[in-house]
Order: sequence, then structure tokens, then C-alpha cells
Amino acid sequence: TAPFFLDCDTGIDDAMAIGWLVASPGVDLVGVSTVSGNLDAAGGARNTLDLLALLGRPDVPVSVGAHDFLDHAYSGGAPEVHGVNGVGEVRLPRAAAEPTGLSGAQAVVEAARAHAGELRLLAIGPFTNIALALELEPRLPELVKEFTVMGGAAMAPGNVSALAEANVANDPLAAHRVFTAGFNLTMIGLDVTMRHVFEESHRQRLLAVGTPGAVAIAQMLEFYFAFYAQRFGRPCAVLHDPLAAAVATGDVELAVAPTVPVVVDHTDGPARGQTIADLRDLYQGFPHTYPGGTRVALEIPGDFAGTLLDRLST
Ligand code: BDR
Ligand code: CA
Repeated sequence: TAPFFLDCDTGIDDAMAIGWLVASPGVDLVGVSTVSGNLDAAGGARNTLDLLALLGRPDVPVSVGAHDFLDHAYSGGAPEVHGVNGVGEVRLPRAAAEPTGLSGAQAVVEAARAHAGELRLLAIGPFTNIALALELEPRLPELVKEFTVMGGAAMAPGNVSALAEANVANDPLAAHRVFTAGFNLTMIGLDVTMRHVFEESHRQRLLAVGTPGAVAIAQMLEFYFAFYAQRFGRPCAVLHDPLAAAVATGDVELAVAPTVPVVVDHTDGPARGQTIADLRDLYQGFPHTYPGGTRVALEIPGDFAGTLLDRLST
């Protein structure tokens, strides 16, 4: 197994990503940190602990990370998408475990040092904890073997503004620092996540699995489906965070994924939060691998929703 560390804002699709990691045989989940995003960092940690207990992993250490962002305060999450409690108003049984006393950044750094050169890092919320971890440990990009993020949009439109995706938009300065720090980084943005969708038939089958974790996730999805129904005209859910988790575990193929420089607009203009990927070579037919660039996923083929359903059913 390989050591994995998750940074998240649990969150309904974050819950699916946690379900994926716990069910993946090659994964040793060594820790989780939370950040404000879908809800505040403390609430996200509570959801994470409660869900991990339901999934049979009450032992995984969870740390409460940054409440506020690098250059501005947290001012409320996304209750219309994830519910006020972050998990679609589902009341998870309260687990006995409490968060560690570490900050999110400290937990990331400790895990990276303990598994130097081996740690797989997955970030599916705003990137504040990782930016703070870089301040604590500038060698973090060398200590982490592979870093996969859900965030941004290279060619697709944004989801919280015309150009910005939520995880990047919440803390554009942190995202900019993370994208330019020299990690072995893969970006799973809206270019690919918007194309992988759970339908009501998947949800019903997950409910029928009957295990406490599968049932809880299926119940949360009812709320998420109602949000997406306003956009898609039918109840369904976009699989942002679990798709990033599946890339991190090496279970899905990146068909088109040039490695190019990515910077983030963190000015106060209309492009704030845009991930600017230099994709010029893609059009001009030159090789598009830049040393130190970010692997930007542009196409992930296959039936990921079916793969996810199977994994969450185990
Ligand atoms: C991202 O924002 C959050 O709402 C989701 O959990 C996902 O990580 C999608 O833009
Ligand atoms: Ca998330």
C-alpha cells in the first residue's frame, strides 16, 4: 500500500472521495486535514470523523485546518450545494474520536516528513493548508511523491464565476502558491469533472448496498442531486472530488493531460480565481511538457460513475 494524505472540506462529493480512498486496497490513509470551503474547517472535520467511523476507519487522524483564507476571512460556505451541515442535512452518528491538536498545515508537514518521498497528497478543498504547509516546510514539493488537486478550469468555464472554480476561487493566492511551488502536480479541474455524473439509478443502487457508509453517502446525495437538478434539469451529481481521488489512486486513465505552466489570477479583477494554463502548444502541435509544469487533465474517458459505484459498494 502507499501512504495517502487528504486535505478536504467535507462536503458531499468530498464524502464520496473519502469513501473511495477507504475502499481502495492500495491506499494507506495516514491522515486528513480540513479547510473552510463548503462549510467551516471545524464542521468539515466533524463530518470527516463521523464518516470515517461509519466507514470503519475511526482510527484515521483528522486535523482542523485553516478557518480563514490567506488574504481574506471565510464568510460562509455553500449551503445551497452541500447543506448547512455540509452533508446534505444528513445527521451522521457522532463518532467518539476528536480532531488532533495539530493545525492542518502541521499535519500535512508531519505526514510528508514521516513518509518522505512516498506520500501521495490529495487536496479537494481550497488550498490554504497546503500554502501554509509550504511556509512551514519549503521542501514539501520534494517530500511529496505525487500531488493531485481537484480545482480550477483550464478551458472549461468556472462554476462560481465565469472563469473561477470554487476551490481556487475561495483562496486564489493559496492556489497560486501551490501551482507554482514545484510539486509533481496533477490538476483535475472542471474540464474533466463536469463530464462525470452520478444519476438517480446509481444513487438507488448505492442505497441498496445497505452498509452504513454507503447508505449515508446515498442519503447525502439526495440534497446534492436537488442542487444539480436546477442546472441539468434532472437529479444527478457531478463527481468532482471522487474523480480526483481516483486519479490519485491511479485507477483512471488521463487521455489528454499536457504538462504546462499554470498560474492563478489572485488580483481583484473579474478573472480572480482563474487558473491560467499555458496551452498554446496544444494548438500548435509542439510537444507540451514543461519541466516543473502542472499535468492538466483535459480528457478522462470511460464510465467513472460505474467504477465509483462499484468501489463504494465494496
Ligand atoms: C469543488 O468545490 C466544492 O464545492 C466541491 O466539494 C469540490 O471540491 C468543485 O468546484
Ligand atoms: Ca471539496
